[in-house]
Amino acid sequence: MSNKIIIAIDGTSSTGKSTLAKRISKKLNYKYIDSGAMYRALTYYAIHQKYISKNHFDKIKLINDIPYIYIDFRKNSTNNKYEVHLNGIPYENKIRSLAVSNLVSEIATVDELRQQMVRVQHTLGLKKGVIMDGRDIGTVVFPDAEIKFYLEATMELRAKRRFDELFQIDKNITYEEVLANIKLRDNQDTNRKHSPLKKAKDAILINTDNLTLDELELKLFNYINPLITKNL
Ligand code: CDP
Repeated sequence: MSNKIIIAIDGTSSTGKSTLAKRISKKLNYKYIDSGAMYRALTYYAIHQKYISKNHFDKIKLINDIPYIYIDFRKNSTNNKYEVHLNGIPYENKIRSLAVSNLVSEIATVDELRQQMVRVQHTLGLKKGVIMDGRDIGTVVFPDAEIKFYLEATMELRAKRRFDELFQIDKNITYEEVLANIKLRDNQDTNRKHSPLKKAKDAILINTDNLTLDELELKLFNYINPLITKNL
């Protein structure tokens, strides 16, 4: 018999969290929740409303809008993936740009917004059978998750991975600007006051530098399998 659990994956940008989480969710038939997509959707909204730009951030206006912002995940019937929606509109295709990436960590410092996102994340985890990735999943969102992973990799490798991804959709992008964005976010995410990125004490540390995705998946399953089959 299979035991449904919560799997938390945290770590810095481009360590392979989402790719691995997607693979594992598919094999276990678990819901994959990309918590970063929620902060990205909020950022896209804030840019669109002109609440935030490179040189200004009207935090109060965004906080005042919280009761009118409804974020959830809905299944896309074409690819069977859960995609982030804001007020019923799919945002998945708009939130991966560097313009959003450059402002998202600023948005993610706002405690009022985080509290609202965590409420949604708790609801999504109620029935278990969920794999969620982000920055504070093992520390704040699901401190009691049955298993927690913390992924790390060198900054240059992470920037190279993210550059390769983004270059597919935007040929004008440069490695240097991607590297600068990753440095900026690492710094903001680890040093913010509320829910900073850090390894939960009981998280399993995985370095993804020299492992292929297949090897990494196998490694994670070595930890997961005993937990989901323990009631046999
Ligand atoms: O995909 P990538 O690792 O580049 O980032 P993401 O998971 O899409 O998250 C984007 C940003 O959202 C992060 O850099 C954090 O600032 C914020 N975030 C957060 O604060 N807490 C989370 N649980 C997830 C993301």
